[in-house]
Amino acid sequence: MRVFCERLVTVNSEIWLPLTGKPMTNNQVFFFDTTLRDGEQSPGCSMTTQEKLTMAHALEEVGVDIIEAGFAMASEGDFAAISTITQAIRKPRIASLARASKEDIEIAARALQFADRARIHVFLASSDLHLEYKLKMSRAQALDSTGESVRLAKSLCDDVEFSPEDATRSDREFLVEMVRVAVEAGATTINMPDTVGYSTPEEYGAMFREVRERIPAIDEKGVILSSHCHDDLGLAVANSLAAIQNGARQVECTVNGIGERAGNAALEEIAAALYVRGDKYGVTNGIVMGNLFPTSEVLGQLITFRPSPNKAVVGGNAFAHESGIHQHGMLANPLCYEIMTPQLVGVSRTSLVLGKHSGRAALRHRLEQLGFEVSREELQHVYYRFVALADRKKNIYDQDLVGLLPDGIRERRKPAGQAAS
Ligand code: KIV
Ligand code: ZN
Repeated sequence: MRVFCERLVTVNSEIWLPLTGKPMTNNQVFFFDTTLRDGEQSPGCSMTTQEKLTMAHALEEVGVDIIEAGFAMASEGDFAAISTITQAIRKPRIASLARASKEDIEIAARALQFADRARIHVFLASSDLHLEYKLKMSRAQALDSTGESVRLAKSLCDDVEFSPEDATRSDREFLVEMVRVAVEAGATTINMPDTVGYSTPEEYGAMFREVRERIPAIDEKGVILSSHCHDDLGLAVANSLAAIQNGARQVECTVNGIGERAGNAALEEIAAALYVRGDKYGVTNGIVMGNLFPTSEVLGQLITFRPSPNKAVVGGNAFAHESGIHQHGMLANPLCYEIMTPQLVGVSRTSLVLGKHSGRAALRHRLEQLGFEVSREELQHVYYRFVALADRKKNIYDQDLVGLLPDGIRERRKPAGQAAS
């Protein structure tokens, strides 16, 4: 175990700036992906070791900084997956979750022993509700356990994250006390989870500001503050962004927003917001924007469901337009109705879906793509037939359109390579 510890210390101090002990001045936000831990522990999302490895490769390609590969103590499968991922993935740091217990922490360290760069992520509830009913522990015991477990984790791995679970429903004085103990014991990242998705952006941001102001050692030691938000009120991404505005420099998230109950903050939505509204947030990150959609696709193939069509950034309708007014605007200038190009996030193109709300401009556009040039009068004629069909049918396919054309037009079809693209 000593050898393991020394190896980590050497590697960590070369590459993990906050560990140099300098106050953090840069504006880099680290992406901590927990698709393989918090995401995986929700219904329909469990993955085999091989599937987790496939996903870990996709996460490496999309540029996340830390992959939480599992909860080593939870099962042999989780242990094996973490260990396998540490041996195959080199760029992101690999983390394992651990409760504040000796056994959990030691098993996490063992699962991580082959990692070039590892992190033990220790959590312990800070709310009275959890302490009293779930853990049957007093506040004093919780503080002792925080110090002891962070010190133990630190003796095994230089990079230790501590999470006061249910931070947003905790007594603020006690939360500050617990965080202070964890920082003094050597935690390098403090993650303050909105475990049940209860907080609002103003409240969540203010919690980060207050904790940072009241514990100067956070900045003095270069400790990173981290957000971890659940989506029970649909506020997970908004809360994560509020945390960033108040000094968080790590965001915890999952691909497609999968996770407990309503899910976790969605990686692709945070990345898109930081990119599109860079004017507002002014932070940098290592996410490869063009890999967002492909990464979402990889996950969709591994678990039992895909994002809903209206899901931001990666849903099937995120770049689709049906209404005539929107289609007309899109054809005139895509900026009319799109705040980012589909290509930015790795989607090949905008789709103008033909349906009963579509107008003549989109119909002409699609007919031209199919190789048919039509006069004004012909378009009018085809349009009436099209609207009548669209009233009866939810999806209009290309063969439906061709079927609507009179013979005279059909015979004038341009050969494939000559049609408008
Ligand atoms: O939501 C939560 O509180 C968690 C912790 C274990 C970090 O997932
Ligand atoms: Zn969580």
